[in-house]
Amino acid sequence: MRVFSFDPSDYRDAYARDGYVHICAGLTPEFLASVVEYAGRELASHKLDRFAIKGKKEQSLYELPDDIDIGEVYEVVAAVAGLDRATITMSERHIQIYEATAAPEPAAHKDRYPSQVSVGLSIRIPDESRLVLYPYSHRETNPFNTSAGLRRHLQPEQLPENALRGAREVELDDREGDVIMFPGSTTWHLRRRAADALNLYLKFNDFGCDPLGEDPFTQPIRERTLTLVESGDDEKLDGLSPVPSRRLDTVSRTATRDGWREVLEARVFGEEPFGITEIQQAALLSCGGGESLASLARRIAGPAGVADARRQILRLASQGAIDLLEWASPMATASEGTGGLSAAM
Ligand SMILES: [Fe+2]
Repeated sequence: MRVFSFDPSDYRDAYARDGYVHICAGLTPEFLASVVEYAGRELASHKLDRFAIKGKKEQSLYELPDDIDIGEVYEVVAAVAGLDRATITMSERHIQIYEATAAPEPAAHKDRYPSQVSVGLSIRIPDESRLVLYPYSHRETNPFNTSAGLRRHLQPEQLPENALRGAREVELDDREGDVIMFPGSTTWHLRRRAADALNLYLKFNDFGCDPLGEDPFTQPIRERTLTLVESGDDEKLDGLSPVPSRRLDTVSRTATRDGWREVLEARVFGEEPFGITEIQQAALLSCGGGESLASLARRIAGPAGVADARRQILRLASQGAIDLLEWASPMATASEGTGGLSAAM
């Protein structure tokens, strides 16, 4: 089953020029029907859940059907938005159902950092509902792995309800089966009169960031990294490329109340932070780009030597802050149908 019905090359220029595309009837009828059916099943089961477990958070993760080719999805999005097909990562796949009481005019938001491209698939859209984008104003990137993280860091005058007053908006009148793509982490946006609207949102980037772990290759890459570290095969390990793990969230320096003595921490998204050394911080902030473990260890080694630096990097791999890739350069290797990650499988 194909997901998209259009030729991506027809929309690449518009995306680059306008900062969004609205592709009417961009979904195949088969895929649209399958999502409608999926959403119906989910809604029914969640209604039951609400009676069964009080306060349970509504699950909105969309399970990719077996009969779609994830390679098609990666290819179309990369082609329209100009992302690197070799490193493209699906950082979110959520069904979003707006309640009947949803605010008709909510505040705008930016999507989390990994939403380099947000793809909205319109599944059931009330006549009066609109997607509103602000492609011309305040396009700074949300650097946080949540949408709320950005809001917490804004000064009052920077909040969208103030900063966007009088800003030029693009109001999209989308219908069932439409596809909308825009740079979600840099574009303020909202859904107006959203009550009862049903959307499938897919988010993508080409820099290997997947804090929620929703790309089909994120978990296999993590498991492969652990297997490699546990193998103890030093020769093989030395040739691998350490990169910040897909779920790594932040690396922080925090002043403590003990005379403001500073501590270093790394945090995998959604988990407790853990302490790191100066050498480990240097590894996290400078790894990637195809450099091998052996070379990275030599470059950042301190007085305790290269073997010690290497051990410290491998500890980060065990803790989930670093992934080890079996390719020379993450930016230079393309593989068919796997998001370029077959080397790690
Ligand atoms: Fe959004």
